[in-house]
Amino acid sequence: MNAVLDIHLTDGDADRALRADAREGLTSRPKQLPPKWFYDARGSALFEKITELPEYYPTRTEAALLERSVDEIAVASGADTLVELGSGSSSKTRLLLDAFGRTGTLRRYVPQDVSESALRLAMDALAIEYPDLELHGVVGDFTTHLDRLPRGDRRMVAFLGGTIGNLTRDERYAFLAQLRAVLAPGEQLLLGTGLVIDDEVMVRAYDDAAGVTAEFNRNVLHVLNRELRADFDVDSFAHRALWDAGNSWIEMRLVAQRAMSVHLAELDLTVGFAEGEEMRTEISTKFRPDGVQEALEATGYRVAHTWTDAEDRFALTLATAG
Ligand code: AVJ
Repeated sequence: MNAVLDIHLTDGDADRALRADAREGLTSRPKQLPPKWFYDARGSALFEKITELPEYYPTRTEAALLERSVDEIAVASGADTLVELGSGSSSKTRLLLDAFGRTGTLRRYVPQDVSESALRLAMDALAIEYPDLELHGVVGDFTTHLDRLPRGDRRMVAFLGGTIGNLTRDERYAFLAQLRAVLAPGEQLLLGTGLVIDDEVMVRAYDDAAGVTAEFNRNVLHVLNRELRADFDVDSFAHRALWDAGNSWIEMRLVAQRAMSVHLAELDLTVGFAEGEEMRTEISTKFRPDGVQEALEATGYRVAHTWTDAEDRFALTLATAG
């Protein structure tokens, strides 16, 4: 089989990062936890369920947009190597691979993900479906391991799903600049971004009637209970989603329903929650089209093309490293 897997992130690294994030986040005011810790096996399955909810429009909007634009993207790109950041199990990958199959330039696919097991599963399936494609998986974190990406003659880096929205503005600019620094002039970035739409529609996408997003949000507490031997009473935290217009992001929070003292045995740490205290667990930035362009131009890219759906809910932007 024509496949390699580089491992830049071990279970030990992830464990150290979780400990540092939990200690820092739970001792700051207001308390906060980074969204990357939602995604254990249960959290990833809950996210898959979210993508099928009637209220959660981003995934299906992006998929339909990609389906419609993918041949234009492949023609405009001409890449020999497709790098996908946060590739997961993605069905979007196949749309891109098939389109590049029709243009005939692509010879290599480089999926990158924090989950080694998800990456192995995805690569095993792709090796059978695309026997002529060279596969080079990278287990790593897209914020810290960009310099480890394998080189290509002409790469297109796809960062889809609107995941860039989980970064603050400063983190986003730093990420785009770091990626730019490892690209050669002419190499490309295909970026998926959620756009600002009606407040209520956006908030409902993060606060569904069936309560799946609430379970997904609370899942981070199950992760801390298991990994850090914590004793969060998970059911005593309520889910809240709100639109922060000033920051142009959806924020998810967990709200303590009563005063609680929580012990994290692995950290030798006890933290108090007041009744009604809110802890931030995710931001999901939504953009205006010129905001995407501005961030890209400020960090060394030129926008080659932008595709949006008919309702302007999502954008795919192809940018070239200048
Ligand atoms: C996977 C980060 C794109 O921010 O919309 C879904 C995660 N959070 N519902 C998003 C998520 C709550 C999702 N991303």
